[in-house]
Amino acid sequence: MAKTTSFSCTACGASFSKWSGRCDACGEWNCIAEEAPLSTGPASKSLGAKRGTPITLSDLSSEEAPPPRTVSGLGELDRVLGGGLVPASAILVGGDPGIGKSTLLLQAAARFAQAGLKTIYVSGEEASAQVRMRAGRLGLAEAPVKLAAATSLRDILTTLEAEAPDLVIIDSIQTVWADHVDSAPGSVSQVRAAAHELTSFAKRKGASVVLVGHVTKEGQIAGPRVVEHMVDTVLYFEGERGHQFRILRSVKNRFGPADEIGVFEMTGGGLAEVANPSELFLSGRGDPAPGSVVFAGIEGTRPVLVEMQALVAPTPHSQPRRAVVGWDGGRLAMILAVLEARCGIPFAGLDVYLNVAGGIKISEPAADLAVAAALLSAREDTSLPAETVIFGEISLSGALRPVGQMENRLKEARKLGFTSAILPSGGKPGGSGGLALTRMGDLTAFVGEVFGA
Ligand code: TYD
Ligand code: MG
Repeated sequence: MAKTTSFSCTACGASFSKWSGRCDACGEWNCIAEEAPLSTGPASKSLGAKRGTPITLSDLSSEEAPPPRTVSGLGELDRVLGGGLVPASAILVGGDPGIGKSTLLLQAAARFAQAGLKTIYVSGEEASAQVRMRAGRLGLAEAPVKLAAATSLRDILTTLEAEAPDLVIIDSIQTVWADHVDSAPGSVSQVRAAAHELTSFAKRKGASVVLVGHVTKEGQIAGPRVVEHMVDTVLYFEGERGHQFRILRSVKNRFGPADEIGVFEMTGGGLAEVANPSELFLSGRGDPAPGSVVFAGIEGTRPVLVEMQALVAPTPHSQPRRAVVGWDGGRLAMILAVLEARCGIPFAGLDVYLNVAGGIKISEPAADLAVAAALLSAREDTSLPAETVIFGEISLSGALRPVGQMENRLKEARKLGFTSAILPSGGKPGGSGGLALTRMGDLTAFVGEVFGA
């Protein structure tokens, strides 16, 4: 079959017939690399194919037991997995280089091995002696984990077939190299082929396979998004450099809720669990200051309080700056527009900076009202009472919309010593949790009540 070269995006895996500087599919720059395509034979007629037998849904026994899960004992990890590790599953753990993926997975491997799973840690980046040294530093030198240093997919699969492990960790998928694929290690087709083979090993043998994937900024190495669709569970390990805590977030999970987070703190002896993240996120908060507002959020199934900080200052530029850390830039633009159009409060000629303190990323629309409050507080140079939490979604009309799990948000606020809350008037918050509630139907009323404007 004639082979033509093609090009793939190393960020999202999209294919193109010619090179360009920017991927049309995901919008990333400098991420298109040349690929030798897989030579696929005609898949048409049933040459040596087996006929399958489809089963009627209702014939499947409803009494079938749910998959037996293994818990690691690291509560933060088990919750993000949906309640433990499921056999015959493939899990992708993505994250920036140096964020702590190898440390997390070595700790997890040790815990699962101690819980009775036959565990193999395959490192393509470090020699076994280096992994052992790391284990020593983490106090895990005695853990019954088998180590292998390998990058050839054929070698890895042969080892796995012979060892028949329950849990395999591949650190990282970008170092695995398949000799039947005609392109450089780390390329989109190599990473896909390796992920495909390892995932089918998991399904065939009933093992859990964890693939580690580095998030790549640009260039020739394929990123973890390329394999997201092949695996059952996608977790991202995130955090800001310079902050000591890390968040493991599930963005896809066939065996549990997505958007669940686990919070860890980096220590000299490895990652430690953080049982009460709100305390940690609010720990650096000083006296009430203009632009600072506490948002009562929900991450996954758990309430988390975080501080939203805004700074608003006259701009020296013709185009004012809008800079956001930890929240969505488009959503900030929307709130600024609603404040201007519905409440007559302009931000033209003002630079706006918004930061979610502590390095956590918030994606809930429930943070709208807290963001608006932080912006107004910064603009008016007045601080809000320190013991108040705020949440609520803002619609384009300026109406405040109720959000989910209001009762849990209030309960968490009460637990952390807050005494009052500002929230939308719709919906039922259940109990107030002992907090003084100020409930409002639209943004204009909120501005009038809180800022007297
Ligand atoms: P590492 O796990 O190697 O990151 P990744 O596999 O994502 O590239 O961690 C990076 C460095 O940080 C490494 O030198 C070990 C150190 N580290 C700690 O000292 N304590 C910790 O709790 C973690 C997570 C990492
Ligand atoms: Mg690593």
